[in-house]
Amino acid sequence: MAFKLPKLNYEYNALEPHIDARTMEIHHSKHHAGYTNNLNNAIAGTEFENKSIEEILTTPNLPTAIRNNGGGCYNHYLFWEILTPNTNNPSDEFLNLITDNFGGLSSMKEEFGKAAATRFGSGWAWLCAKEGKLSICSTANQDNPLMEGGCGGTPILGLDVWEHAYYLNYQNRRPDYIKAFWEIVNWEVVEAKHQASL
Ligand SMILES: [Fe+2]
Repeated sequence: MAFKLPKLNYEYNALEPHIDARTMEIHHSKHHAGYTNNLNNAIAGTEFENKSIEEILTTPNLPTAIRNNGGGCYNHYLFWEILTPNTNNPSDEFLNLITDNFGGLSSMKEEFGKAAATRFGSGWAWLCAKEGKLSICSTANQDNPLMEGGCGGTPILGLDVWEHAYYLNYQNRRPDYIKAFWEIVNWEVVEAKHQASL
C-alpha cells in the first residue's frame, strides 16, 4: 500500500489572508507530493513497505531518505488537518489543561511562537501530549517528536516553519506568519488528537 497525497478539506485560497492560495498550492501539490513520491520510492521492496507511517517513524536508525520523506509526509498530514478557514476555540476542559501546563493560552502561544521563531533554518514547532501532559518543542528539517532523538510526545499541533510554507507572502517575516497561524487553527482537531493520545 503506497502512501497517498491527502485531499485537503478546504480550497487552496480558503486560508487567505493568513496563508495565500499560491503558497498552499505549491506546498501541497509540489512539496507534500514530492515527499509522498520519494517516500514510496524509498520504502519499495524494503521492510518498511507495508508499515504505517507511525511504525516507520518510530524505528531507530532510519535510512536518511525514509527519515526525511517519511517525516515530510507525516508532518504535512498533521499540518493540513489542524488548519481550518473557520477557526474555533479550545473547549473549557482543554483550556484548563493548557493553563495547568503553561499558565494560560497566551503563555502557551508565546512559548510555541518562541520555539517556531528560534528554530534556525527549516523545521517545525510542536505542541505534544505525553501521559496527559502537554509540552512544546521544535525539530529541524522534517524530523518530528516521534523520531529517535525527538521528545517522545505525540504531536497534536504543528507549525511548518520551512520558508516554502510562508516566503511568498511573508518573506523574512516569520514572526508575522507565526502570529497569523493562530487565526486558522482547528482546535477541535487538536483536542481530538489529544484525546486519541491518552
Ligand atoms: Fe512544508
